[in-house]
Amino acid sequence: MTTQRKTIIAGNWKMNKTPKEARELASAVVESVKTKTDLPEIVLCPAFVALHDVLEVAKGTPVNVGAQHMDYRDEGAFTGEISPVMLTSMGVTHVIIGHSERRQFFGETNATVNLRLKAALKHKLIPIVCVGESLDEREEGLTDAVVRRQVAAALIDIDEESTKTLVFAYEPVWAIGTGKTCEAAEANRVCLLIRGVVNEFYSRAEGGHKGAKSTAGDHVPILYGGSVKASNVDEQLALPDIDGSLVGGASLNAGEFQSIIVAGAKRQTTMASKLTRSGT
Ligand code: 13P
Repeated sequence: MTTQRKTIIAGNWKMNKTPKEARELASAVVESVKTKTDLPEIVLCPAFVALHDVLEVAKGTPVNVGAQHMDYRDEGAFTGEISPVMLTSMGVTHVIIGHSERRQFFGETNATVNLRLKAALKHKLIPIVCVGESLDEREEGLTDAVVRRQVAAALIDIDEESTKTLVFAYEPVWAIGTGKTCEAAEANRVCLLIRGVVNEFYSRAEGGHKGAKSTAGDHVPILYGGSVKASNVDEQLALPDIDGSLVGGASLNAGEFQSIIVAGAKRQTTMASKLTRSGT
């Protein structure tokens, strides 16, 4: 059965662009999609200090704005942190959770990813939860085990209904910012694995589904991220289980990002027509 999942193209600008530069880049992205229809879901994730500018530019356009990270508490004495309440009050709709750079440099763990995911869902932010193995883990043949563990740990105490707003991103750490893209077929295989882990999780009694077979994972969009560019995105988005792209470096260039959006639009149209043909 073909399942309709939305196609998402998200740009993670990381620690790049001043508010002024972010405003310019966001304006160029908005301009490039202005006259287009059948767009994928587009999300720009600037640094916290640029959220206000990018939100202003994106207001009333098809472009959504996400944060790159957030605290899981609503408020309190947590110097330097930003809460989900602050984000939603500004108009932010999405949040990246558990990016490998947060895991690698800022002490993010599977347990804190789970806390952040619960907080995002509670505040109706659309979470983009990142998972992926390091180069050592891949070379030791641990890719599937690592990804399985990350996905299952993220879902602890999350009810099945909440998976309707959940998004995962498979980002192999060794492919991020290195120019080394994961082969499209391999990325698709791991995205399918993630889908399967979600299904298994909610098919088990402790997943809250009382032992019945769950298809929750079939409805969760799963993005690929890691050196995505205009030149490799078509190949990735042609595969059935890669529902979009989480783009780093290439999202800092409006022209390059526009081409990736166009690829996303093509995927969305193709999937919709497959669905019509299969009558599902
Ligand atoms: P690059 O596209 O620069 O490899 O970054 C990917 C990424 O980390 C997106 O979150």
